[in-house]
Amino acid sequence: MAQLSLGPGFFRPESRPARDLSVLLARHQSLNATRPLRWLDLMAGCGIRALRWGLEALANPAVETELWVNDGDPDRLPLIQANAAGLGCSNRLTAEAADLLLHRSIVERHWFDFIDLDAFGAPGPLIQPALQALRFDGLLFLASTDGRSPTGHDRPGAIRSLGAAARAHPSSWEMALRQQIGLVARQAWMLGRGLQPLFSFSEGRTFRLALRLRRQIPAGDEQKLGLVARCERCGAQRVQPLLKLSGWPACDCVAGQGRWSISGPLWIGPLQEPQLLQQLIAEAQQLGRQQISPATLRLMQRLQADPGDRPTVWPTDELVRRLGIGGPPALGPLVQALQAAGYRASASGVMPGQVRTDAELPQLLQICASLRGEGI
Ligand SMILES: C[S@@+](CC[C@H](N)C(=O)[O-])C[C@H]1O[C@@H](n2cnc3c(N)ncnc32)[C@H](O)[C@@H]1O
Ligand SMILES: [Zn+2]
Repeated sequence: MAQLSLGPGFFRPESRPARDLSVLLARHQSLNATRPLRWLDLMAGCGIRALRWGLEALANPAVETELWVNDGDPDRLPLIQANAAGLGCSNRLTAEAADLLLHRSIVERHWFDFIDLDAFGAPGPLIQPALQALRFDGLLFLASTDGRSPTGHDRPGAIRSLGAAARAHPSSWEMALRQQIGLVARQAWMLGRGLQPLFSFSEGRTFRLALRLRRQIPAGDEQKLGLVARCERCGAQRVQPLLKLSGWPACDCVAGQGRWSISGPLWIGPLQEPQLLQQLIAEAQQLGRQQISPATLRLMQRLQADPGDRPTVWPTDELVRRLGIGGPPALGPLVQALQAAGYRASASGVMPGQVRTDAELPQLLQICASLRGEGI
């Protein structure tokens, strides 16, 4: 059994789902690998992720895997060294600034198959070198704790760190994830590479993305960058790809009293890759609950059930407020009623109590009202 010391530094038990997912993603890569792999835990803290990679993710004995464990704080190195003593595989333990490590790897053509970048604040300046240090089809697991800019609470900050307008929106976590994916996609496209979101989630404090770098930009992917508009007054939402940007139609307010609040450019394509999530769920179930916590499994199931294919999402609380009726409609029957009426609909996997649909708000409200009539 491996021993892990947490030391006096940074460790958050609440980040367990992110660590579980890092392990599952690495393990999935190992299971499907046909050549040696290199994994980088760039901001390792006490080194827990890399230790778990070494113990739980090396699923393919035929594939040699090198782990590089780094934390910029040199005081952490003895702790990382002690924790890594239990690693059976080849490893490199360093205390370097992340930008230096990445830039040197790029110059030395030392590519990684997986980079876990678990940053404090916004990882902005590290995105470009992290993408350049990834092998084609490599994976980037990226965290940001900057919630203020992408959720519209620091608009000048959003212009600076995302190059985008960010306005307050009830689906704030989702908007923050879309802003972050949009930023990474633009950086990948600048390199002539494609970017595929694998899964995206938040608990409101940290915004996490798993992304695959693709050798080529899939045809039409530029359509996945766009603007999201919302009228605070009537609640209407509209989306436009930047590629086909035209005027905004009137919202649902009477006599032109409404005004669109526009966010973007941001990612308007899918947030999740359901097929991969399905495989990760099956692999997690094989490992069991000691390794992958029930909370992580539930999170994956929620994300898998909602690909996040369009950014029009309404909280049921808002629907109730606009209808002026009692309690919120149950999400399951609402989704079913929308689907029965021919709309795309799912319960948001990103924020609780929200419905994603391509129905426009008046139709959505009508369906809610009819459900109330049926006493659901
Ligand atoms: C969020 S913690 C990492 C937690 C760890 N991944 C876990 O799962 O417990 C961020 C770490 O990044 C390190 N760090 C911050 N800025 C850095 C930089 N520029 N280069 C390298 N490491 C850095 C800090 O010392 C800190 O330990
Ligand atoms: Zn309006």
